Amino acid sequence: MKAIVITRLGGPEVLEVRDVPEPLLGPGQVLVRVQAGGLNFADIMTAHGGYPGTPKPPLVAGREFTGVEETTGRRVMGYTQWGAFGEKTAATPDLLWPVPSGWSAEAAVAFPVNYFTAYFAYWEAGFLEDGARGKRALIHAVAGGVGTAAVQIGKIIGAEMYGSSSSDEKLARVKELGLQHAINYKQRDYEEAIKEMTNGEGVDAAFEMLGGEHTAKSIRCLRDFGKVVQYGTATGRQPQLDLRALYAKAASVQGLWLTYLSSKRGLMQHAWKQLSQWIAEDKLHPVVGRVLTASQAAEGYQLLMTGKNFGKVVLKIS
Ligand SMILES: NC(=O)c1ccc[n+]([C@@H]2O[C@H](COP(=O)([O-])OP(=O)(O)OC[C@H]3O[C@@H](n4cnc5c(N)ncnc54)[C@H](OP(=O)(O)O)[C@@H]3O)[C@@H](O)[C@H]2O)c1
Repeated sequence: MKAIVITRLGGPEVLEVRDVPEPLLGPGQVLVRVQAGGLNFADIMTAHGGYPGTPKPPLVAGREFTGVEETTGRRVMGYTQWGAFGEKTAATPDLLWPVPSGWSAEAAVAFPVNYFTAYFAYWEAGFLEDGARGKRALIHAVAGGVGTAAVQIGKIIGAEMYGSSSSDEKLARVKELGLQHAINYKQRDYEEAIKEMTNGEGVDAAFEMLGGEHTAKSIRCLRDFGKVVQYGTATGRQPQLDLRALYAKAASVQGLWLTYLSSKRGLMQHAWKQLSQWIAEDKLHPVVGRVLTASQAAEGYQLLMTGKNFGKVVLKIS
C-alpha cells in the first residue's frame, strides 16, 4: 500500500510517499481503509524525533484519520500515535468513533485531536462540572485547530472567551465562531490586554500551548484560584514556572496530554458522550483550513510550522 513515510529524522523534507507493507493488527485491533489524515503539531515533532514513545524511522506518519472499517463498512474517524497516513491503518476500537451523518471525510478528520483536547481543557479547568457561566478563559492560538474547537465548546457552555492570535484576519474569523474578546498579540501585550479587559481581575483558566515565558505570563493573567492548562510548547522553549506566583493567588498549572488521556477508556467514553450529543445538536463544526494531497504533505507540515494555517490542515490519503 502507499503511505506517507518519515524516512529519517528531520523537517518536512524527510516525508516521502512510499510503498510499504500493510499494517499488522495487534490484539483487538481492526483494519481501516483510510481516506483522509489530519495534520498535528505532534507530527512535526515526531518527524524531528522529539515525540515521546514513537519508534525510530522509517515510520508511517500520522495520528488521526477518517476512513472505512474493513470488516463492517462503517465510516469512522480515529486516533492513533503513528501509522494514520497510509492507505490502511491498524486501529484500536476504543479510539474509533462513527463519522457523524452529513460530515465529509475531510471535516471528520479535523475532529478527534482538536475536540477531545479542547474538551479536556475545559474539563481540567472545572468549566464542565461546576458550570462555565461567568467564567473567563484565555485561549492562546485561538485560530488554530484546538483553539477553534475551544471557541465552539466555550460558546455552548457559556464561557467568556479571550483569544490570542498574530493576525486580525484570523481573529475576525474566530469571532464569527463565537469568540467575544480578540487580542492581537503582535499589536498589544496580551497580559496587559487581559488586565484591562477584565478590570484587573484576570481569567479563571488559560489554555497554554506556547511554553517559555508564556507559561509565566499566563499565570499572571489568572485571577484567584485560576488554572493554567498547559498542553504544548509550540515555541520549543521549556515553560517558565515560578511556584511563588501560584501561591500568591492559590492558582495552579495542570498538564494535558491527549496521548495519555486517550488510554483512559472511561474518560474518553465520558467525553465522547458529551461531544456526540453536541454534534447531534449541530453545535460543533470542525474548521478545515487546507486540503492537500499526500504528495503535498511537506507543504502541509510547512504551513503548521510557519503558523499560516487557520483550522485543520487535511491530507487526502486515498
Ligand atoms: N497536549 C496535547 O494533547 C495536545 C493536543 C493537540 C495539540 N497540542 C499542542 O497544541 C498546540 C497547537 O496545536 P494546534 O493543532 O491547535 O495547532 P495549529 O492549529 O497549528 O495552531 C498553531 C498556532 O499557534 C500559534 N503560534 C504562536 N506562536 C507559535 C510558535 N512559536 N510556533 C508555532 N505556532 C505558534 C500560531 O497562531 P497565531 O499566529 O494565530 O498565533 C499557529 O497558527 C501545539 O503545540 C500542539 O503540539 C497538544
